[in-house]
Amino acid sequence: MQVIRKIDKMKQEIEKIRGKKKTIGFVPTMGYLHDGHVKLIREARNSSDKVVVSIFVNPTQFGPQEDYERYPRDEKRDLRICKNEKVDYVFIPTAKDMYPDDFETYVELSKTPNHLCGLSRPGHFKGVATVLVKLFNIVNPHISFFGLKDFQQTVVVQKLVKDLNIGTKIKTVETVRDKDGLALSSRNSYLSDEERIKALSIPRSLIIAKKEIENGETDAEKIKNKMKKSLEENGVKVDYVEIVDRNTLDELKEVRIPCAVAVAGFVGKTRLIDNIIFEKKGKILNLPKIKMEV
Ligand code: PAF
Repeated sequence: MQVIRKIDKMKQEIEKIRGKKKTIGFVPTMGYLHDGHVKLIREARNSSDKVVVSIFVNPTQFGPQEDYERYPRDEKRDLRICKNEKVDYVFIPTAKDMYPDDFETYVELSKTPNHLCGLSRPGHFKGVATVLVKLFNIVNPHISFFGLKDFQQTVVVQKLVKDLNIGTKIKTVETVRDKDGLALSSRNSYLSDEERIKALSIPRSLIIAKKEIENGETDAEKIKNKMKKSLEENGVKVDYVEIVDRNTLDELKEVRIPCAVAVAGFVGKTRLIDNIIFEKKGKILNLPKIKMEV
């Protein structure tokens, strides 16, 4: 496994791989890897000759009041995980190299960010889109892998590569959860034991929505209110609860498939997100497998 910190060096290695007609699978991350990332890496390993993982806590996707400085970092552990997973290249650029002082070019989508997390995190998807275009230009991957836990991000990246004719395929992978149903996230490390218990009401609220929809409820407002009530009763400060079109992210008043039920909430100071996606009748993605009385 090679650890590469310089952009030019990464590009040279990519040219060599491409010269040998080998395929490149790419997993962009912000590090502090967990089993969700491992699942992405394994998918990449299974479908590509060479696997590149990037680790870069991207400053441009954090708002001024957000957790850029305290975002968890553990490079040694990340490298151990990558080595175990037989990653070929770990690309770890510096913020200075990615965003030199004279940097001025950003990539912005005009519609997809006007929903869900984009509303509570202004500028977030501009930062994500910008760094991804840079990483795609450097790594030039055949396939790139993204987790559906960041549902809106997957819609953003699919639009981005289509609109800008970027030559990577995008493959999405379902959310990995802990046994208790909590979606894996690097930010779970912020939670105290007590907060973790409160956080479980997030996947539970998604089960409430699933049951309502399966029982034939189509009034989105009624479903969202039940979810909000349960979240608030369990100590989660709701940022949003939405039922949206799966592709456009437009809010649905009347539930129809394909759609996604998405939640964001604060447990203490930690903002967590989660979702389930009704792809088609009988196919729900990211579903927490927890038993509960509703
Ligand atoms: O999902 C993430 O970890 C980040 O948003 C990404 C895609 C690596 C861009 O910084």
